[in-house]
Amino acid sequence: MASLTPISQSQSYFNKPHIPIPPSFSGPLSNFSLKKSGSLRFHLKMTQAPLKAVVVSATTAEKPRKRYPGESKGFVEEMRFVAMKLHTKDQAREGEKEVKEPEERPVAKWEPTVDGYLRFLVESKLVYDTLEGIVEKAAFPSYAEFRNTGLERSGKLAKDLEWFKEQGYAIPEPSSPGVRYAQYLKQLSEKDPQAFLCHFYNVYFAHSAGGRMIGKKVAEKILNGKELEFYKWDGDLSQLLQNVREKLNKVAEDWTREEKNHCLEETEKSFKYSGEILRLILS
Ligand code: HEM
Repeated sequence: MASLTPISQSQSYFNKPHIPIPPSFSGPLSNFSLKKSGSLRFHLKMTQAPLKAVVVSATTAEKPRKRYPGESKGFVEEMRFVAMKLHTKDQAREGEKEVKEPEERPVAKWEPTVDGYLRFLVESKLVYDTLEGIVEKAAFPSYAEFRNTGLERSGKLAKDLEWFKEQGYAIPEPSSPGVRYAQYLKQLSEKDPQAFLCHFYNVYFAHSAGGRMIGKKVAEKILNGKELEFYKWDGDLSQLLQNVREKLNKVAEDWTREEKNHCLEETEKSFKYSGEILRLILS
């Protein structure tokens, strides 16, 4: 029978000690268990810097293989794990980030303006036009997998802007947050597919989760509850998301651990750029 051999082995989450640990990861994190099929069962305890998981016990004498949070379910789960930590507690249960920016305050307390929301929609459209143009062009063959996923938002936003126009609003030109993000995405997509797909995942999946909730609350406050096309999908949204998860998982199967870690590290930038655009709602 396997003896209970205590192993004390420090594991870097990103497997690269020089990678800076995002500040939002610096608080203690609850313990979690990773189960592996068969008799192997590890109990990982997160230490002060939660990106370092320490194996405190193993039920076999076999050397445990390094496991990353979410890894057993596929790479999307790893991306989700990192993204969820970058939320505030109020935004999502798994969130750990401190509130620093206006858009990180509870959505229920937001005081949105129609002009600010229109700017948000315009900048968002530029970002979706860019993402959808990038996968159409497919500088890297893997991008072609993400054409016509049903998650595309550009056409829907065009309809919403048309509606605002009919209501008598002047549609502003896209300005710095959207233009900057679009430029960044274009450059990234041509040289760094791992980092680019991190943005692709975060933008579309954030919109399907928190984005929808924001849309509902903002519409109640300033649009008489009008449900915009931006928040409607043709077909079953959970199935569309699942199809994209599977494609992302498949593409990431060909990535090395370093490439996966590089993708995960990009999550913070995705939050930063998207946060700047969200902030417009409150301007
Ligand atoms: C006010 C801002 C935000 C709010 C209120 C919010 C809220 C939420 C909520 C409630 C969830 C679902 C949690 C769950 O599955 O239990 C979620 C998921 C998620 N959010 Fe956010 N979020 C916000 C901003 C962002 C931003 C800026 C990003 C990145 C660009 C982001 C990325 C994600 C991702 C990737 C998921 C996982 C979706 C999935 O698993 O399908 N969120 N968010």
